[in-house]
Amino acid sequence: MSGTAPGEPITVPDDFTPAARVLRIRESPSVAASARARDLKAQGRTIIDFTVGEPDFDTPRNVKDAAIAAIEAGQTKYTAVNGTPALRAAIRSRMLRTSGIEYTDPQLTIGGGGKQVIYMAFAATLDPGDQVIIPTPYWVSYPDMVLANDGTPVIVSTRPDSAYKLTPTALEAAITDRTKWLVLNTPSNPIGVLYTPAELAALAEVLERYPHVWVLSDEIYDEILYTSQPFAGVAAAMPGIRSRVFTVNGVSKTYAMTGWRLGYGVGDPRLIAAINKLQSQVSSCPSSISQAAAAEALTGDQSFVTDCVGAYRSRRDLALRLIGAIDGLTPITPDGAFYLYIGCGDLIGRHTASGAQLRTDEDVTLFLLEAAGVAVIQGSAYGTAPFFRMSFATSESVIEAGAAAIAGAVATLR
Ligand SMILES: Cc1ncc(COP(=O)(O)O)c(C=O)c1O
Repeated sequence: MSGTAPGEPITVPDDFTPAARVLRIRESPSVAASARARDLKAQGRTIIDFTVGEPDFDTPRNVKDAAIAAIEAGQTKYTAVNGTPALRAAIRSRMLRTSGIEYTDPQLTIGGGGKQVIYMAFAATLDPGDQVIIPTPYWVSYPDMVLANDGTPVIVSTRPDSAYKLTPTALEAAITDRTKWLVLNTPSNPIGVLYTPAELAALAEVLERYPHVWVLSDEIYDEILYTSQPFAGVAAAMPGIRSRVFTVNGVSKTYAMTGWRLGYGVGDPRLIAAINKLQSQVSSCPSSISQAAAAEALTGDQSFVTDCVGAYRSRRDLALRLIGAIDGLTPITPDGAFYLYIGCGDLIGRHTASGAQLRTDEDVTLFLLEAAGVAVIQGSAYGTAPFFRMSFATSESVIEAGAAAIAGAVATLR
């Protein structure tokens, strides 16, 4: 080993250049917005933070107990790349319950959150120049994950007249011979749209004509629903192309387990083998303790989920009523997830008390931060403008205070 003798100064290179894949991507805008809010709080400002995409509830007691029991029982070692037998059984039975599909172990991968599972799917399949179709508004991470893995995101704008859902015509127009994946997210972050079985069947009809295109279906919010319409899993709704559907889920949102970092994906065994081969060199496996906790979450008492969804529904209705009453703001009613996506086009062009003109939705979010002490995320981060996203995974009193502060600030605009 070449090295520095004791006492000798360590030579530090005077420059550092990250790899091209890092230079190509942005820091997550939601992380950046949360950091901005944190900085202001550190300066002594009172900030109402609606940027955070995680439940405010604590992880349920039975799940914590399962993790503690796993530690006490010595389940503290590496596991198989695709998880402990208990977790694999839990994922299989959960998928059977929610999709009616009987998956087997070779069809299953796990990772440090749904986020890592999606990243691994791209890493395992994309060659330079391969394209990934991403409908707007999209979860901020998809395009950057594609870019980080040498792929090309193909952003397809959705429209209000199709309820911000991808149409078969728009899908077909975006497909080329380099298309590898279509990403669907139902219900979605940031807009909460839920695809119906008929809408998914219509997309499948197009995909049947393009056997080289696979579907990555991010269903992480599948249990957080406000409609009477039941959730339609993409794999179940696309039986003709089911072998090309990779379904991603996780325990973060449904069971308030964001910090436990446990997600999973189910799909074609060849795809899974490629992901697991890569995972064997990336992290070996997620935490054994989180795996035990997730197994309990997926198979134990589910009343926590029902209670949370009831609370989210009341908060959604409250936020819709309060924000909808503010002049210039038009919230879109979400079918699921815990975000309100709010049109702010009527504020563009207005002037602040100091004479600055609001030209973009980023200007609006900075204005709300400065003038109202409310942190939200600009719609342009999600590929649509002018909007902003507000998380309602917070208490009703915080929603009331935030909406009042936004109303007060907006009233000062001219
Ligand atoms: C749409 C969507 N997919 C996936 C994730 C990843 O969640 P996790 O990695 O915590 O499972 C998130 C988290 O914000 C999300 O909003």
